[in-house]
Formats: sequence, C-alpha cells, structure tokens
Amino acid sequence: MLFSLALLLLLVLPISAEEPEVIFAQVGGSVTLPRKAWSSKTELYVHWYFGTDEQPLILRTPHIPLKKGSQKYWQDRLSFSSDLSLFISPVLDNDFGLFRCQQHEYLTIKETKYQLYRVIVPTMVSLLVGDALSLTCEVEPNPVHPSVKWLRPRGSNYFTKSSKNKHTINVSSISNNHSGDWICTVEHKNQMFNATTSVKIIDLSPSPPDPIYTAVNSSPPSMPCSLSSDISWPVLNGSGLQGGSWSFTPLNSSSLRPLLTLNLSSPAWRDSNGEKGFLQEKVLKERDLAVKSSQVSVKNRGTYTCSLQFKGGRTLSRKVQLEVLEVRSSNSSTSEGSTVNLTCTLGQPLPPGLEVNWIPPKTASRLFLKIHPDSLSLPSVTVQDSGEWKCELRKKKTVLTSAVMALTIEKAPVDAWLFVAVGGAAFIFVLVPVLILIIIHRRRQNVKKRQRKARFCCCKNPQAKGFYKT
Ligand SMILES: *[C@@H]1O[C@H](CO)[C@@H](O)[C@H](O)[C@H]1NC(C)=O
Ligand SMILES: *[C@@H]1O[C@H](CO)[C@@H](O)[C@H](O)[C@H]1NC(C)=O
Ligand SMILES: *[C@@H]1O[C@H](CO)[C@@H](O)[C@H](O)[C@H]1NC(C)=O
Ligand SMILES: *[C@@H]1O[C@H](CO)[C@@H](O)[C@H](O)[C@H]1NC(C)=O
Ligand SMILES: *[C@@H]1O[C@H](CO)[C@@H](O)[C@H](O)[C@H]1NC(C)=O
Ligand SMILES: *[C@@H]1O[C@H](CO)[C@@H](O)[C@H](O)[C@H]1NC(C)=O
Ligand SMILES: *[C@@H]1O[C@H](CO)[C@@H](O)[C@H](O)[C@H]1NC(C)=O
Ligand SMILES: *[C@@H]1O[C@H](CO)[C@@H](O)[C@H](O)[C@H]1NC(C)=O
Repeated sequence: MLFSLALLLLLVLPISAEEPEVIFAQVGGSVTLPRKAWSSKTELYVHWYFGTDEQPLILRTPHIPLKKGSQKYWQDRLSFSSDLSLFISPVLDNDFGLFRCQQHEYLTIKETKYQLYRVIVPTMVSLLVGDALSLTCEVEPNPVHPSVKWLRPRGSNYFTKSSKNKHTINVSSISNNHSGDWICTVEHKNQMFNATTSVKIIDLSPSPPDPIYTAVNSSPPSMPCSLSSDISWPVLNGSGLQGGSWSFTPLNSSSLRPLLTLNLSSPAWRDSNGEKGFLQEKVLKERDLAVKSSQVSVKNRGTYTCSLQFKGGRTLSRKVQLEVLEVRSSNSSTSEGSTVNLTCTLGQPLPPGLEVNWIPPKTASRLFLKIHPDSLSLPSVTVQDSGEWKCELRKKKTVLTSAVMALTIEKAPVDAWLFVAVGGAAFIFVLVPVLILIIIHRRRQNVKKRQRKARFCCCKNPQAKGFYKT
C-alpha cells in the first residue's frame, strides 16, 4: 500500500533536476520562453506557471487549444507561439522571476524552469549634435556570464568596455550618422538577446546648397529649415531648448535683425517686433521649421538665419540666401528717339555660371545692343519698343527666375509737332507770294533792259553816263 502510494507520488511529482534556463529580457520588449519538446504526441497537456502560483498562467489540453488563467496582471500579454512556447509582450517590471512549464502525458509530468533576467538600457537618448554619447547596458547578475556588446546603427562598432555587469561605450562627439537604434546584444550558447536604445540627434538639416532665386512681384518663396530627425517638441524642450529665431542680414550689410522668435509654449514662430514682417508667423508641427514669406521686394535681398538656442549657450543655425532679380531701366517712360538702357540685376555682380537672357516684347522687332552681360542698350527707341521686356536668370539651360519691366515709349510731344506744322505753314504762306513777286519784278526789269539795249546800244561806244527819257 505504502509502496504503491510512493510509486504514484513519484509518477505525479514532476521530474526536474535541472537548473532553470536563463532568459534575458528588456522591460517594454517581448520575450519567448521556448518549450522543450518532450513528447511527439498531440494529446499533450501544457501548463505554464509563474513562481509558486498554483493557478496556471496559460494552458492547453487536447480539447481546449488555449485557456488563460484569471490573473489580470498577465492576461493581455500572454500567448502561445505555434510550438506552445510562451510569448510575453510587453514585458513588465514584475515579470523577472521563475517560470515553470509543465507538460503532462497520462500520469507523467515533465517540468522545465526558466529564470528571466533583466537587461537595462536607456529606452531613448536625445542629444545635441557634437555632444558626447555614453551608453551603458546593464545585465542583471546571472549564472551564465553572457558576452555583451554594443552595435551601432551604421558603420563600424565601438569598443564596449565591460566592468562587472555593466557594459559601456563612449562616443566623444556624435553626428547625424549616430542616430538610430543602438543594440546591446547579450549572447550565450546559441541564444542571443537584443536590447535596443533609440538615439535621436538634435540637429538642423543642411542648408540648401544654392541661394533661393526669386524676382520682384513673383510668388513669395518659402524659407526652408527643419530638424534632421523626428523629435517631438516635449523632447526638444526636455533637451534644454531655450529659444529660437529667424533673423535677417540685408545684402551688403552686417546688421542682424530678428524677424521671428520662437514661442516655446505654443510652439510657434511669432513676429519679433509685434508687427507683420517679411516672414509670416506659423504654428509649428513636428520637425518643420520653415516659414513662408510675403510679397518680395529688393529690400528683402540678403541672408536669412534659422536658429535654435539651447542651454549652455549652444546654438544650431542654418542660413538661407535670398536673391531677388529686378529689371531696372535708365528711364521707364521716355519719348521716341531717346536711348533706354535696361539692366537685369541681383543687386550685386552676377555669380559665375549664371547668365541673363532677354526676351523683348513681340512688337519690338529691332536689334538691341548688349552692353554688359546683364544690360541692354536700346538706342533711338520707337513706340514699337513699348511693352514687357523680360529677363531670365539662367544656370546652364535652367531658368532660375525671371523679371519683367513694362516700358512705355511715347511719341515726341504733340505741342512740338504742332509748332513745326504751324511754323511750316506760315513760312510757306509768306514765302510763296514773296517769291512770286520777286520773280515777276525780275522779269519786268529784264524786259526793260532789253528794250533799252535795243535803243541805245547799237553804237560802238555806248554811253553809260546818263538816262534819257523817251
Ligand atoms: C559620420 O558623419 C561624419 C560627419 O558628419 C563623417 O565625417 C563620417 O564619415 C560619417 N561616418 C559614416 C560611417 O557615415
Ligand atoms: C565614458 O564616459 C564617462 C563620462 O562621460 C566616463 O565616466 C566613463 O569612464 C567612460 N567610459 C569609457 C569606457 O570610456
Ligand atoms: C540582434 O541584432 C543583430 C544586429 O542587428 C542581428 O544581426 C541579430 O539577428 C539580432 N538578433 C535577434 C535575436 O534579434
Ligand atoms: C506664447 O504663446 C502663448 C500662447 O499662445 C502666450 O500666452 C504667450 O504670451 C506667448 N509668449 C510670448 C513670450 O510671446
Ligand atoms: C518646457 O520646459 C520648461 C522648463 O525647462 C517648462 O517650463 C515648459 O513648460 C516646457 N514647455 C512645454 C511646452 O513643455
Ligand atoms: C525720363 O523721361 C522723361 C520723359 O521723357 C523725362 O522727363 C525725364 O527727365 C527722364 N528721366 C531720366 C532720369 O532720364
Ligand atoms: C546707356 O549706356 C551707355 C553705354 O554704357 C551709356 O553711354 C549711356 O550714357 C547710357 N544711357 C543712359 C540713359 O543711361
Ligand atoms: C553690394 O556690393 C557689391 C560689391 O560687393 C556691389 O556691386 C553692389 O552694387 C552692392 N549692392 C547694393 C544693393 O548696395
């Protein structure tokens, strides 16, 4: 009797002599506790327990494929993988303990134990570009002494220095290519566990390589500026952001004028001086710090600086150069016959590689003289030269922007013509009768002379001394 009871106990009591299997996990991550395949039978009972709990966390019988225990703490986070391993996601702080997997077949029970060990890495690190990065991966003391090292997102890895259960890498000055997921790999036997830390680098995207070209009265351009990675405003604020601005340095000037300042509590760009300026106010969302401008004039030529100020006097800034094309004429409204010079200008000499192309109005079918790479001279203009003279700024075959000038050529003033006409008419009126009279007079005289010659000059010595009346 006693013997059979002992035999029964021996059969019912789980066979488990082994040490618990070591499993690594990260809070917030997921973990799989692999079931040791024991029997090939499908008629298998699998029960998973936590610690000394009597009630299973999750179980499977030949009739019920999956049944969860009633513990609220676990319920939504547990599931079976296809081979009846236990899958936990997300892992919480109180999960680091002993798990038991019991497999029943008839009266035989096999139990496997698993001990969960914590791997601690920072979940997210946000740093200003150029800062020093130090990452530590801490592995809860365990019996297996795994090999631990850090892997960086791209490029070659750094040396991981280990001291006891802490494994650290240091990077003296971080750049954008350090951003991304850094992985602490914990490896022992054939098992590998990865704990990840998301490293966000606070930096501004590079400035556009070329200036922004626009023209007077053309559609207002947008001034680009953005954070180089997706960083939320609370994170930025937590990283010591203290202010920001969009400021302006006019062409050929060194004075820096703030146009917009960053209101951190909204967050938004707001007019610095309380009055509407060239750059428009904007509520900020996500990483985009760009602003729209208003109607462009030559006064807006210059350099615009987008900057963010951080604690400790650190500043991130990017510059955008705005070039405004304009057609200037020596005289926009002139009379026919005069010379008009047109100049297409950025307010400073044309940068190398850029050229100006002129498009005259359709009515102007004349030759014009290019006196300078960016200037035209139109000698003796006519009314046909009136209209829009367009100049295009080109880089190779691409038109960067174009500007127009409306030229008005007037006929010579009407008064002058009238004067000429009236004067001419009067002249003719007076002159013609006078001429006629003179001609008539001359003719008469000639007739008289001939008559006299006929009377007195048939002698050899004509006497010119006196007149004789007939
Ligand atoms: C990382 O960025 C720095 C400067 O931004 C550059 O000098 C370096 O070559 C980059 N390294 C890799 C692996 O891309
Ligand atoms: C990493 O830098 C920290 C200070 O930032 C220092 O305490 C630590 O000793 C350094 N570790 C290594 C491996 O250089
Ligand atoms: C851990 O990360 C490394 C590097 O990305 C990868 O090669 C490896 O497959 C990962 N291992 C696991 C178990 O996710
Ligand atoms: C920033 O914006 C908030 C809300 O729009 C406003 O109450 C506050 O006065 C602004 N701060 C400054 C410095 O303009
Ligand atoms: C940003 O941080 C400061 C303290 O550094 C705090 O006073 C302010 O309320 C924070 N603003 C936002 C929008 O979180
Ligand atoms: C432009 O033309 C108008 C009319 O012909 C003339 O009165 C004015 O003096 C001219 N201005 C210049 C700068 O040549
Ligand atoms: C136009 O340009 C020519 C050549 O540079 C110059 O001689 C002339 O004075 C200019 N005329 C005007 C009206 O500016
Ligand atoms: C700016 O300076 C350049 C020479 O550096 C000069 O040619 C140009 O006329 C100046 N522009 C203005 C608007 O003063």
